[in-house]
Amino acid sequence: MTFKLPDLPFDAGALEPYISALTMKTHHGKHHAAYIKNMNAILAERADAQTSLEAVVSLAAREANKKLFNNAAQAWNHGFFWQSLSADAQNGPSGDLRAAIMNSFGSLEAFNDEAKAKGVGHFASGWLWLVSDESGALSLCDLHDADTPITDPSLTPLLVCDLWEHAYYIDYANERPRFVDAFLTKLANWRFAQAQYQAARSGSGAWVFAT
Ligand SMILES: [Fe+2]
Repeated sequence: MTFKLPDLPFDAGALEPYISALTMKTHHGKHHAAYIKNMNAILAERADAQTSLEAVVSLAAREANKKLFNNAAQAWNHGFFWQSLSADAQNGPSGDLRAAIMNSFGSLEAFNDEAKAKGVGHFASGWLWLVSDESGALSLCDLHDADTPITDPSLTPLLVCDLWEHAYYIDYANERPRFVDAFLTKLANWRFAQAQYQAARSGSGAWVFAT
């Protein structure tokens, strides 16, 4: 099958001044589009048909097919990243997700401190993920390059921050700390994270890449 570049769930300029329309248009229309185009070209050479992007990512991981994995996982990760951003979800986590953060990290401040330390301290390209295990325990993990927690069936991602320079260089130059701080305090889509958390607890309903 051929996968399509999903539309952004908001206007390209909706996240200004924290992420510019130019960054969003480049990130979505150039970077994300290229991963999907490259993946489709690789899949076109194969006889086996996959019914979902999640299945392609798992297949590539099992086969240790680095070229397919890098493009498929980046296609999925970016689709998830767009959902992790919001122009109007700036009040922080609430409800049972807030309680889970308190349980797992001790306090919201401790969560923010660990997220900033991992996001800023991550060397080179990658992603900062907030994930839940099946018991509802949360953790933060910074993964390199295209790596994604969906290769671990015991984990459900709740939010992700793109740490590749293409995510922030136009707006923040080399100042990744300011970008990570903006993500955590102005952009993180806590409503989406809450829905993902409920899916993690119930074992169904987690976000999937649209086909
Ligand atoms: Fe990216």
